[in-house]
Amino acid sequence: METRQLGSTGHEVAPIGLGCMGMSWGYAESQRDDTSSVEVIRRALDAGPVLLDTADAYGDGHNETLVGRALAGRRDDAVVATKTGIVVQDLATRTLGRNGSPEHIRHSADSSLRRLGVDVIDLYYLHRVDPLVPLDESWGALADLVREGKVRHLGLSEVTREQAATAHRAHPVAAVQSELSLWTRDPLDPRTGISGWCADNGAAFVPFAPLGRGFLTGRYRSADAFEAGDFRATNPRFGGEALAANLRIVAVVEEVAARHGATAAQVALAWTLTRGDHVVPIPGTKQLRYLAANTAAADIRLSARDLADLDAAPAAVGSRY
Ligand SMILES: NC(=O)c1ccc[n+]([C@@H]2O[C@H](COP(=O)([O-])OP(=O)(O)OC[C@H]3O[C@@H](n4cnc5c(N)ncnc54)[C@H](OP(=O)(O)O)[C@@H]3O)[C@@H](O)[C@H]2O)c1
Repeated sequence: METRQLGSTGHEVAPIGLGCMGMSWGYAESQRDDTSSVEVIRRALDAGPVLLDTADAYGDGHNETLVGRALAGRRDDAVVATKTGIVVQDLATRTLGRNGSPEHIRHSADSSLRRLGVDVIDLYYLHRVDPLVPLDESWGALADLVREGKVRHLGLSEVTREQAATAHRAHPVAAVQSELSLWTRDPLDPRTGISGWCADNGAAFVPFAPLGRGFLTGRYRSADAFEAGDFRATNPRFGGEALAANLRIVAVVEEVAARHGATAAQVALAWTLTRGDHVVPIPGTKQLRYLAANTAAADIRLSARDLADLDAAPAAVGSRY
């Protein structure tokens, strides 16, 4: 199986990783099932080493504990990435705050190591820059964790090129994670896009929500498809008129998929892989059948015509959050 270099981490990983967030919160929570989620993670590791993505905030620790259960006896099959810097203020309503203070980072790293049941975190991201704490201070605390052997490599999430460069001068940025998919292309902007910065500086670019939070799979065709509490039920892109307009993007993806005898989800993932060899997407699923399909997307070879059609798909209607 083809592998990709995960930025400057030295790890070779499967081209498509696994995002674990939805196993704990965010999407269709009534369908959550920890036992089957552990099975999904373990099955993903069969293609290992695989980049597993979690965060302390997802389910307020629940997701890291789940990943830890799946990792038991399988540590070497995973490159374990987690995050610090977002704090859960109210779990029931998913109300979030930020805390990038060195004290918080030190404390949350120890908690993450314990929940994950590992000696060292392979890739530790600052989930968001805290506007009240200079990035240098947060990044310095993260670099200390590397020196102490608790963390191997550092990453950033949703940062500007300037922020990435500032951090990189103090300690190497091994990876940056931001939203990238056929309906969120900002990281590809040739002037400001963070993906280009990553390619130029030896960092991996890790697209989150590469399936447009499920929308690009063609599975969701009306705003009432989402149960109360589902993140998408109140998201601007999934609301009435915006959703109807955005289905024009899905139509293009489905047309290309038909040429390959593939699914729209597979084409959406294959497209992210064409954005550069430094790109390792992390689609999320809690279902074995989707995991298998998503893994197989790495084998799809999109033609110049496919790429031209996908690039010409309309821009999304509605903001990301
Ligand atoms: N850094 C950040 O701020 C940030 C923000 C958001 C997410 N993330 C990370 O990125 C990961 C991926 O993003 P995401 O989970 O938000 O969105 P996503 O990967 O774009 O989409 C996940 C949704 O797509 C569905 N799905 C997955 N594969 C499918 C397939 N083959 N066919 C049909 N439906 C499919 C899933 O359904 P089921 O659940 O039913 O399988 C789920 O509803 C997360 O798990 C998390 O680790 C990071």
